[in-house]
Amino acid sequence: MYTDFTFSIIKPNAVRTGKTGPILAMINEAGFEIAAMRMVRLTKPQAESFYAIHNGKPFFEGLIEFMTSGPVVVMILRHENAVEQFRKLIGSTDPAKAEPGTIRKLYAVSVQMNAVHGSDSVENAAIEAGFFFSRIERFL
Ligand code: RTP
Ligand code: MG
Repeated sequence: MYTDFTFSIIKPNAVRTGKTGPILAMINEAGFEIAAMRMVRLTKPQAESFYAIHNGKPFFEGLIEFMTSGPVVVMILRHENAVEQFRKLIGSTDPAKAEPGTIRKLYAVSVQMNAVHGSDSVENAAIEAGFFFSRIERFL
């Protein structure tokens, strides 16, 4: 299986405030290739299945409300060791802990509205990309 890819979402707070372009520029400047990209508005069932692992946690309802609050940009990104490299580029979940120069340090406004998603494993990248793109091997 091809493993040098990850899946990302530019979240509603960042799209709404015009940060799509600056975030895409950072992604390109860090050497990622945008292999597939679409703008979509998640339905509640889509957001719930995407974040199913967090179902039952105290922040789940708020997370679903936030992720369905406006359009998002979904992408498949190619890079050597993409999952780990992209998690480095986005920084910690909590922007207060995110390293300087990371996307979340610059564009997150809270733990919930943290501007971007990046898959946490290659297995999850394939699953998550499959929510939005059919036959993802075409892009890899
Ligand atoms: P993501 O999945 O979106 O890339 O973020 P992550 O791995 O860094 O963090 P994760 O633990 O998977 O949490 C998923 C998203 O849920 C929201 N969250 N809110 N209020 C809270 O305590 C809380 N914790 C998590 C964030 O939007 C986080 O990105
Ligand atoms: Mg996560």
